[in-house]
Amino acid sequence: MKERVDALKDEIKRFTASNKDQLEEFRLKFISRKSVVADLFSNMKSVLPEDRKEMGKLLNELKHSAQEKFKELISSLDNRKASSSAPVDLTLPPIPDTLGSLHPLSITRKRILEIFERIGFNVSYGPEIEDDWHNFTALNFPENHPAREMQDTFFIERDPDVVLRTHTSSVQVRVMEKGKPPIRTLSPGRVFRNEAISVRAHCIFHQVEGLYIDKNVSFADLKQTLLYFAKEFFGKNTKIRLRPSYFPFTEPSAELDISCFICGQKGCKICKHTGWVEIGGCGMVDPNVLENCNIDPDEYTGFAFGMGIERITMLKYQINDIRLFTENDIRFLRQFKSVN
Ligand code: PHE
Repeated sequence: MKERVDALKDEIKRFTASNKDQLEEFRLKFISRKSVVADLFSNMKSVLPEDRKEMGKLLNELKHSAQEKFKELISSLDNRKASSSAPVDLTLPPIPDTLGSLHPLSITRKRILEIFERIGFNVSYGPEIEDDWHNFTALNFPENHPAREMQDTFFIERDPDVVLRTHTSSVQVRVMEKGKPPIRTLSPGRVFRNEAISVRAHCIFHQVEGLYIDKNVSFADLKQTLLYFAKEFFGKNTKIRLRPSYFPFTEPSAELDISCFICGQKGCKICKHTGWVEIGGCGMVDPNVLENCNIDPDEYTGFAFGMGIERITMLKYQINDIRLFTENDIRFLRQFKSVN
C-alpha cells in the first residue's frame, strides 16, 4: 500500500492540465468521492492495527497534495486563459447596457404625484388590510347601508371588522385623524374588489386619492385642480366635465370625465363615440366625514377625488387589456421607457 501511495504522489506531481477536461479528469481521479484516494481511505479497514497510524498519516498527506495540486492547476489554467485572449480593442463600440424600465403603472403613478406635488400636495400611505372604520364607517357608509354593496368587498372570514381596502379613501381618514388642516395629500396604493378578472376589470388594482382640507375650499377649487391635472397629464387641450354622482363620503359628488384625446372628440371606440372618457370620482368632503375625523365642518371644508391608475394608463397608452399589467410579459413591459 505504501508503494501505491508513493506512485500516486508521483503521478499527482507530474500531472499537467491544459484544458478543462483534463482538470476534470484530475478531479475525478484524485479528489472526488470515487477517487483512488478515497478508495485507499476505505481500505484502511484491512490495514493491521499497528500500521494504521502511519498509513493514516501517509494517506492524509496524499489527500493534501492532491488538493494543493488541484488548486495549482485551476490557477495556472486561469492565467493561461487570461494571457492567451486577444488584446482588448479599445476602438470597438461598447455593448449597450440593457437597463430595465419602470412598470407602466409606476410611470403613471410617478407622473401623477409629480403633477400634484407642484401645487403643494404631499404623499401619504396606509395599510392594505383595513378595518371597517377606515374603509367604510368613518367615510359615512352607515352600517348595513346598500352603499357598501357598491364596492365588492373582500372580507376576512374570521373577523368581519377586517377588510382588504376597497379604495384608498381609507387613507384620507387616517391622514385627517392624525393631522390638522390645512391638509393637501395624495394617497396612491393597491386596492381590492371581488370582481371577476376580465379585459376591463381586475380584483386587484391601483388608485390615487387626493384630499384638500382648509378654510373656504370650494367646488370651484376642485374643478380647477382637476382641470390643471388633466391638462398636465393628458395634454394642454384637454377639457374636463363633471357629472353629478353619488359617493357616501362626498356631497355633492361627481364623476370626472376628460375630453377624448384620442379622437379629439370626433368620436371613437375608446370614448364610445361620446367624446368623453371617465377617469374617476370626486366631490366635496361630506361634513359627517370631517366630524368623524375630529375636524370642525363649520370651520373647514375640503374636496376629494379618486382615480384608477390602471384606467388612466390604459387610456394614455391605449392598452386594451388590464390583465397585461400583471402578466409580466417582457415584450409588453419593454415598450415603456422609464421617466427619471
Ligand atoms: N373612492 C371612490 C371609489 O373608489 C372614488 C372617490 C374618491 C370618489 C374621492 C370621490 C372622492 O370609487
